[in-house]
Amino acid sequence: MKILFLDQSGKPGGAELCLIDIAKPYGDRALVGLFADGPFKDLLQQNNIPVEVLATQEIQVRKESSLLQGFKSLRQLAPLITKVVKKARKYDLIYANTQKALVVGALASFFSRRPLVYHLHDILSKEHFSQTNLRIAINLANRFASLVIANSEASKTAFLQAGGRRNIIEVIYNGFDPKTYQPDESDINKLQQQLELQGKFVVGHFSRLAPWKGQHILINALAKCPPEVTVILVGDALFGEQEYVQYLHQQVTQLGLENRVKFLGFRSDIPQLMSVCNLVAHTSTSPEPFGRVIVEGMLCGKPVVAVKAGGVMELVEHGLNGFLVTPGEPEELAQVIITCLQETEITATIANNARTTASLRFDVATINQQIAQLLSHRL
Ligand code: UDP
Ligand code: GLC
Repeated sequence: MKILFLDQSGKPGGAELCLIDIAKPYGDRALVGLFADGPFKDLLQQNNIPVEVLATQEIQVRKESSLLQGFKSLRQLAPLITKVVKKARKYDLIYANTQKALVVGALASFFSRRPLVYHLHDILSKEHFSQTNLRIAINLANRFASLVIANSEASKTAFLQAGGRRNIIEVIYNGFDPKTYQPDESDINKLQQQLELQGKFVVGHFSRLAPWKGQHILINALAKCPPEVTVILVGDALFGEQEYVQYLHQQVTQLGLENRVKFLGFRSDIPQLMSVCNLVAHTSTSPEPFGRVIVEGMLCGKPVVAVKAGGVMELVEHGLNGFLVTPGEPEELAQVIITCLQETEITATIANNARTTASLRFDVATINQQIAQLLSHRL
């Protein structure tokens, strides 16, 4: 089967990293068409996945767009749609991985008469999107998609609640290669020295810097923890959240935590960095659709604390394979950090359980088989 994947982003967010794993087995039978240039293209090339940047100018629709803006951008999209229609004729199906890709993919599917699959990485609710964007996504998926793959039950439920058709949607979790998350001991030690983290209790946060990812909650929690607790913030503002970055730096200064918080920017050595942590924290203030970082933390054998909302509830069972806290509650988060610092034996058992179950549940080979089966049976 030849697949034309579409993704709007030039930057590697979670949806894009997931796409790499899905497209890889198809080799030359796949093409990833991007709507923006950037480091995601390089990553695809490094993974030997054919890629082309199809759009020459940025598409203006934002998560909060109005109908009028939507129509304006549709005009702007015409050349891109024409290009995608031409490409699509050489492939068996169009696989839209983001919302703008769904818009382009739906029209291209209509004109090229190729089936459309939509990989839904978002919780389609008013908390995350404007009414207009929700309506566009649901109507296009209902009308044009033969299959919607939701990244969690939470994303599926939101899709149905927003009016999505039940008979087109299936849940498939992100897949991971457990081997990737077992880095060399020597690399871990080197990194620990470079970052001057010896003797510290390191809490790692791995996410783009964006208000809803809640890095500020972790900083507030840190202020309530003993002095040996240190935070590393791994990730950058991927989609223009510069104000939030400034806010985080100010918050750190105001709380006098300059020596206990390290901003490491975007990194590609996540398994190594997670391995220098004592705890991986997830703090999103809006429901997380899936949360790759949670599974990655588990695969690295680290205890994970995450917020009780969205897809996270499908990944973490409190006290069994991780810890759950109320979103937006630094006090509760600080309590869990302190428990992990003190109760090392129980915490290690929980982390080991998590590693074993996550390796089985999210194994990329099995997940890719499930996707291949769905594509061949449903299309
Ligand atoms: N990530 C990364 N480098 C960074 C920060 C994050 O490669 O500096 C990766 C992280 O390991 C995870 C992904 O980005 O695989 C983020 O995915 P997640 O589902 O947690 O959140 P998203 O940003 O997609 O909402
Ligand atoms: C999106 C979601 C994130 C999910 C990722 C991969 O970026 O925000 O929760 O893990 O897609 O499905």
